[in-house]
Amino acid sequence: MAKKIDTLAVHGGEPRDKAHDSLVNPIVLATAYPFDDTDELHRYFRGEHKRAEEYGRYGNPTQDVAEGKLAALEGGGDPEVTALLTSTGMSAIVTTLLAMVKPGMHLVITADSYRKTRVFVREFLSKFGVEHTSCEPSVAGIEAALKPHTKLIITESPTNPYLNCIDLEALARLAKPRRIKTLIDATLATPFNLRPLSHGIDLVVHSATKYLGGHNDLMAGAVIGNRGLIEAIREHQGMLGALASPFNAYLLIRGLKTFAVRMRQHNASGLAIARFLEGHANVERVWYPGLASHPAYAIASKQMTGFGGLISFTIKGGLTDASKVVDACEIPYLAPSLGGPESLIEQPALMSYYDKSPEERATLGIRENLIRMSVGLEDTDDLIADLDQALSSI
Ligand SMILES: Cc1ncc(COP(=O)(O)O)c(C=O)c1O
Repeated sequence: MAKKIDTLAVHGGEPRDKAHDSLVNPIVLATAYPFDDTDELHRYFRGEHKRAEEYGRYGNPTQDVAEGKLAALEGGGDPEVTALLTSTGMSAIVTTLLAMVKPGMHLVITADSYRKTRVFVREFLSKFGVEHTSCEPSVAGIEAALKPHTKLIITESPTNPYLNCIDLEALARLAKPRRIKTLIDATLATPFNLRPLSHGIDLVVHSATKYLGGHNDLMAGAVIGNRGLIEAIREHQGMLGALASPFNAYLLIRGLKTFAVRMRQHNASGLAIARFLEGHANVERVWYPGLASHPAYAIASKQMTGFGGLISFTIKGGLTDASKVVDACEIPYLAPSLGGPESLIEQPALMSYYDKSPEERATLGIRENLIRMSVGLEDTDDLIADLDQALSSI
């Protein structure tokens, strides 16, 4: 019987019978896994004897369970869908790209993808003869950037900070007949709100540091897709060594138990706060894909079941007025990141783009009066009252 997402979040990927009859999955810290005797070792390396573990850099039993849970959530129970857990979201992206690129090939990346992903493509992969085109974040923009030797499209949905959404079915229709692989960073959506594989996308990456871990207390990443692709990427992880520790894998399993409950609250609170902000006299504009005013509202409503807790808005005023609002907030912390129980608030101009001049930020589309809020799990009315008093301070 196909299970719903709440059930998959609690039980998905976990063996019913766990070591020591424990109800909770144990943390296995071992760096090596002994063989019974030389005969078992021979049979293992000849492929006649299957065992899950050998040496810590190739995986561990706690990682296996976390991967099973992520695959269950992203694949909705499809046994062909496989996950690879990594040490951070960036290591999921880097390990995946290193497994997929070759000198002389061309890839397309949308211009509002995560900044460090773009930097990796532009400054690192280019050194090894991997060509790329950075394009406008739409299917038409991607199509215009394709070349005969394009083999990979990298994009995000929704994006940060303006929550642009890509029509994933249209993207898959563009890429598949041309034998181009598609890679979506769906960190902001999570499998609660969007399942890119079901729209024909080949690979999904996540910063599990965000909603999947969900408690602002672990760094991890994941790449999820069909078994063949993921096992090829896993081979590269064995060389690059960017594994999540067994302890972090355990924290992720634990965090995922409440994933569906948390996401329902992030979605409800996110939408209520976005609506409140849109009606506030001191707010200039709000970007939230669940608002009819958002340019991607139609696409988001078609392919997503909720819109998450990340909201961007500009205030009527400049950079220092925006700082006043941020500093006047009593509940959200001034911090980067997103997806945890504590609401966080920041100005992208003074966080991810501090190193850029106002002119460079303008070219990159980062407005001086922009504020980004990650709506946490506090009471929605308390958050609205807090934002109201903070916005009234300008
Ligand atoms: C959309 C997106 N992708 C990837 C990353 C990188 O994840 P991590 O910080 O876990 O390496 C982030 C982190 O902010 C992100 O927001």
